[in-house]
Parts: sequence; C-alpha cells; structure tokens
Amino acid sequence: MIFQLFKKKSSRPIISDFSILGADMHSHLVPGIDDGSKSVEMSLDMIRGLMALGYQKIITTPHIRPDYFPNTTETIMTGFGELQKAVEKEKLDIELECAAEYFVDYEFREKIDNEDLLTFSGNHILIEISTFSPPPNLYESIFQLKIKGYQPIVAHPERYTYYQVDEFRKLKDFGCLLQVNTMSLTGHYGKPIKELAQKLLKADLVDLLGTDMHHPGHLEVLQKASKDGKIMNLIANKEFRNATL
Ligand SMILES: [Fe+2]
Repeated sequence: MIFQLFKKKSSRPIISDFSILGADMHSHLVPGIDDGSKSVEMSLDMIRGLMALGYQKIITTPHIRPDYFPNTTETIMTGFGELQKAVEKEKLDIELECAAEYFVDYEFREKIDNEDLLTFSGNHILIEISTFSPPPNLYESIFQLKIKGYQPIVAHPERYTYYQVDEFRKLKDFGCLLQVNTMSLTGHYGKPIKELAQKLLKADLVDLLGTDMHHPGHLEVLQKASKDGKIMNLIANKEFRNATL
C-alpha cells in the first residue's frame, strides 16, 4: 500500500503525435538559402518526418537577416517554388505554405515601410530578435507592424533569457503572439531555455508551438518529445492556435 502512495504518476502520453496541432508554422525547409535544409532531398526527408509526426500543414519560414542570411521575398519564393515542385512530384499529401522569419534590426523598418513582408494565414508575421541583448527598436517595430494591420508573432521567446516573464506579458499586451519551440521543452537548447519555456506556459502566455526545424537531426528530438508524457499531455490540454492557421 505504502508503495502505491508514493508511486510515480504515470507519464504515459495521452496523445502520441502532434496531429492535434495540425500546422507547424516555423521551420527552415527551403534548401540552400539559410542555415536550414541544404538540399531538396533533405527538405523532402524533413517533410516526410513531419508528416509522420502528425502534421498536416507546414508553413516554412526561412531567415531574413541582412548580416547572415540576406534573403529577399524573391529569393525565398523562388526556392520555395522549386521545393513545391519536388513535393508535388513525390505526391506528398501535405499542405505547404511559405513565409519568413524576420530578424528585427534597423533594416527591418524599411521592409515594414515598403510593406515588402512575407506573411502567412492572412496577416501573421514571424519575427525574431537577438539572443544576446534586447534590440532597441523592438517596440517601435511592433507598433509599426500593428498600425499596418499585421499580426506579429515573436519566435522562441524562451531563447531570450535576458527577459523575464513580465517582459513577455508586456509584449503580449502590446499585441504580439508568442511561439515557443517544442524542442525547448525537451531541454534541447539547455536548461535555462527549458525553464523559461515552462514559465511562459505556466503563465498562459504561449499562443503557438513551432518545430523551428533546421535539419533531419531535429526530427529525432521531436520524436523524443512525442514520447514524453509531460510534454504531450501539456499539448493535449492547452489550446494552441496552430490548428487555426
Ligand atoms: Fe527559426
């Protein structure tokens, strides 16, 4: 009897894959244009892997970051067109969409002013900031996006460990949505990032989950997550917006 009292609660997942989310809205699958997929074959492997994990829709988001990945709407859409052709040729049953992950710097303002922005599901736009220090123009950029009718989504807030939970609450009050990386919950990016992700979830500040998949190795991390009762039960019990995209 005494053993039963202290018996560890079962951690068996109540769902076994990510099909409840429906859509993934953060990945780097357009080959050869950022630090993600290196070839069409690699992209196809990753897409097959995501399908096996239960995703029915993939919105891929190559980096646009002038210092490292100087992509434009044109470079992204050209690469995406080639990927789409390959997906059709392989007859993969997946809905594929393309947008971008914009790094907030001074050049980003120019893109907002020119309304040269890749969005998904209408007006959603994915933005990221430095993992080392807060950008001085973050709130100004968000304000400009909002007045032009865009819905900013802050990518992987848990990786900005220089911020506390209150700052993210402020960003949400300012009109942003927050997207946590599923892999952060496994500890893939380290303990402080896992802990901040957990705090954000506990505070009910997380709107979306994303894979942020860069290479096939990330599939193994996601497979590991799919076998983790705590992570999967959390996904089953929270209402993320992925399925609405
Ligand atoms: Fe990303």
